[in-house]
Amino acid sequence: MKKLRNWDNKTWLSSKKYIFSFNNFLRSKIKFDKNTQILDIGCGRGNIISSLHKKYKFYNKPIGVDIVKNKSLKKNIFFFKSDAIHYLKKTNKNFDVILIKQTIHFFNKNQIKLLLSYAKLKLRDKGQILLFSLKTKDNQIPCFKSMGINLKKSLKKDEELLKIIKKNLKNLKEVYFNFRVNISKQVYLRMIRDRYISCLLKMSVKEIKLGISELNLRLKNQIRFTDTLKCIVFRK
Ligand SMILES: C[S@@+](CC[C@H](N)C(=O)[O-])C[C@H]1O[C@@H](n2cnc3c(N)ncnc32)[C@H](O)[C@@H]1O
Repeated sequence: MKKLRNWDNKTWLSSKKYIFSFNNFLRSKIKFDKNTQILDIGCGRGNIISSLHKKYKFYNKPIGVDIVKNKSLKKNIFFFKSDAIHYLKKTNKNFDVILIKQTIHFFNKNQIKLLLSYAKLKLRDKGQILLFSLKTKDNQIPCFKSMGINLKKSLKKDEELLKIIKKNLKNLKEVYFNFRVNISKQVYLRMIRDRYISCLLKMSVKEIKLGISELNLRLKNQIRFTDTLKCIVFRK
């Protein structure tokens, strides 16, 4: 399967406004200080941890792990191109915060169990795991027909994975992060062409082209919707 390369490549997910708002949300859940050691699993270009590091100037640079090394990766983080489970198994580091944002759907049930058990082992005392995934019901992500079918399947899988996650992380809290997206149709259609979301990865070029025509007819010139993430907060 193709790799996800354009999720945070000039999209609302990499915009200053999004990162600012997301990091404000993190601040409401985590007491950051200079000693905080962060690991971001499936970090993409590292935008989130890079911005946190700019603000807090941590003594230890945040660490990002991803199976894809993108060209425009942030420079002020430590990056490991690795499978997350493999990294967690091998590292001798311990963390105050482990972020797993919009990445669980890349793992199967057994892998999620493994990922969580290693993540828990690598948490410092009072360390936190914050896991984010798309809201599974009434999701507002604009989709063409076959993309919508794929997204629904993926969200169904997320529901199954979330059940396992809840079993494995006791005493967790659930909250939501909402971001009001306001982008032009032109930008959104470019994101679709670039397969920004994993439910587009397996589609043929023809399917994507047809989908773009469908959305071009259906969507208004300016697209506004709420991108809602479920957030699971676990504290050791
Ligand atoms: C939807 S993106 C989310 C990126 C980032 N967390 C964010 O929210 O902006 C999912 C990321 O997980 C990465 N990924 C997928 N499978 C992975 C694995 N087994 N180990 C580490 N990263 C993985 C993908 O390459 C991709 O960058």
